[in-house]
Amino acid sequence: MPERRLAVITGASSGIGAEFARQLAARGYDLLLAARREERLKSVVAEIVSRYSAGVEIMVADLAMDAGRHRLAERVRTAGNFALLVNNAGFGTNGFFTEVDLESQDRMHRLHVLATLELTHAALANPSAQGVINVASVASFGQAPSNVSYCATKTWIASFTNGLATELAMRGSPIRMQALCPGYTFSEFHDVTKMNRDAVPKFLWMTAQFVVAESLRGFDRGQVFVIPGWHYKFLVFLMRAVPASWLRWFSIRLAERRRKAHHPQAAPRG
Ligand SMILES: NC(=O)c1ccc[n+]([C@@H]2O[C@H](COP(=O)([O-])OP(=O)(O)OC[C@H]3O[C@@H](n4cnc5c(N)ncnc54)[C@H](OP(=O)(O)O)[C@@H]3O)[C@@H](O)[C@H]2O)c1
Repeated sequence: MPERRLAVITGASSGIGAEFARQLAARGYDLLLAARREERLKSVVAEIVSRYSAGVEIMVADLAMDAGRHRLAERVRTAGNFALLVNNAGFGTNGFFTEVDLESQDRMHRLHVLATLELTHAALANPSAQGVINVASVASFGQAPSNVSYCATKTWIASFTNGLATELAMRGSPIRMQALCPGYTFSEFHDVTKMNRDAVPKFLWMTAQFVVAESLRGFDRGQVFVIPGWHYKFLVFLMRAVPASWLRWFSIRLAERRRKAHHPQAAPRG
């Protein structure tokens, strides 16, 4: 019997990452799931093994720390049946750049940028690699007051993924790169930033099931940018088409609404 392919998913203890675990198990992958909360990882494993025949392993690791990143990268680099990496772990903060403590913004850069960089490097060094999905955001295409480091790091993820996809294509590599760019998606993300979900119009919300199904459909087609939802596709089209000064004006109006939607004492879990 051929060896089952392994998918490595970061941030798999909740939300979009846990849904990647379910849908990739349904597609016949074995899984290595990484995050910090062991109990939550274990409950995702219990759910998956009760429904699918996947082999599932967990790695409890803080990927914002060098030790956690290096440990997972080593597994990605050396796993004989490695096929797919999903760099999904991430978190948001809420507040103007000078209001949010530097430590959590530093941690965000380490998680969104350094972990994506090191794990992708490890994945591409593995001869059995088939693809890497990097979870960016629609925030990759603009800037938002109160969300500056988040947008900047997500822009880096999108640009890095696109650059690498271009380089791999130039070298004739079959490895697929994807930047998944979701908009508002139900998960624990907005609990972490203490955001009032009711402040966002209902039609803008998507489920993690839909977002992940769109990502995997895009992966099958070799799509580099996947923006789930027609409304977000249109929004991104506008964001790319309008002059930067218009986008800045719109971002300020939107941020004023967002700030009202957050509780004042927001503190990140990340
Ligand atoms: N939800 C949205 O509206 C939305 C929109 C666009 C993009 N995204 C992106 O989607 C990705 C997944 O977020 P989500 O919406 O599913 O939120 P979520 O439910 O809060 O999941 C975030 C995941 O990241 C993990 N994580 C956070 N910090 C970590 C660290 N230092 N080391 C290892 N794992 C860490 C968390 O696990 P532990 O806490 O157990 O470590 C959790 O599994 C993120 O990159 C986010 O930026 C979300």
